[in-house]
Amino acid sequence: MNDLINFLKTRRSTTAKTMIAGHLNESDLADILACGIRVPDHGALNPWSLTVIREKARSRIGKKILVPEYILKNPDATPEELDFEKNRFLRASAVIAVLFKPVSHPKIPLWEMELSTGAVCSNILVAAQSLGYAAQWLTEWYSYNNKMIKEIGGNPKTDKIAGFIYVGDKEKEPVERRRPKTENVINFLTE
Ligand SMILES: Cc1cc2nc3c(=O)[nH]c(=O)nc-3n(C[C@H](O)[C@H](O)[C@H](O)COP(=O)(O)O)c2cc1C
Repeated sequence: MNDLINFLKTRRSTTAKTMIAGHLNESDLADILACGIRVPDHGALNPWSLTVIREKARSRIGKKILVPEYILKNPDATPEELDFEKNRFLRASAVIAVLFKPVSHPKIPLWEMELSTGAVCSNILVAAQSLGYAAQWLTEWYSYNNKMIKEIGGNPKTDKIAGFIYVGDKEKEPVERRRPKTENVINFLTE
């Protein structure tokens, strides 16, 4: 089995809960982003954009958006919950937000643009994991928040957040999760 197949067959996400913010090497980040935008994209429409949230932006967004927007949704929020929101992005060395930005096209359906955006997220995740980083694809509540969409350059009327890919360091190797049985999800047609 070659190295890539072996990696793809065994890679595993590390939850943001268990990762630690550490050092994300600049050239690794550049590679992760390059892999992220090298995806199948019908019509080469680039119906997506990436925003890297790092350094002070992680706490700024926590204070400016996550805390006040969480309070609006949860007026009875406890100080502990608000503290968690303030520090949410600090769990990672960097959080890469992927925005779905549909393009008007006479033939290519929106669905295919959404699929390409999912591929961007997947490539970022897999690239980061291949370099040994802890990484997880999350949407959580703030992906569906208009202020957050605007913060990463989107228009809430048209654009959607496909995910936030958290990239950090591993404290320990993640344990395997439940996987589908191949016979339940894979069919072969031969005639
Ligand atoms: C679009 C999308 C959104 C997700 N959002 C969440 C989330 O908000 N919270 C969560 O606990 N897991 C979420 N997950 C699942 C995590 O990414 C989880 O770590 C993943 O299923 C682990 O699979 P892996 O080990 O094969 O990478 C999401 C997955 C996808 C594809």
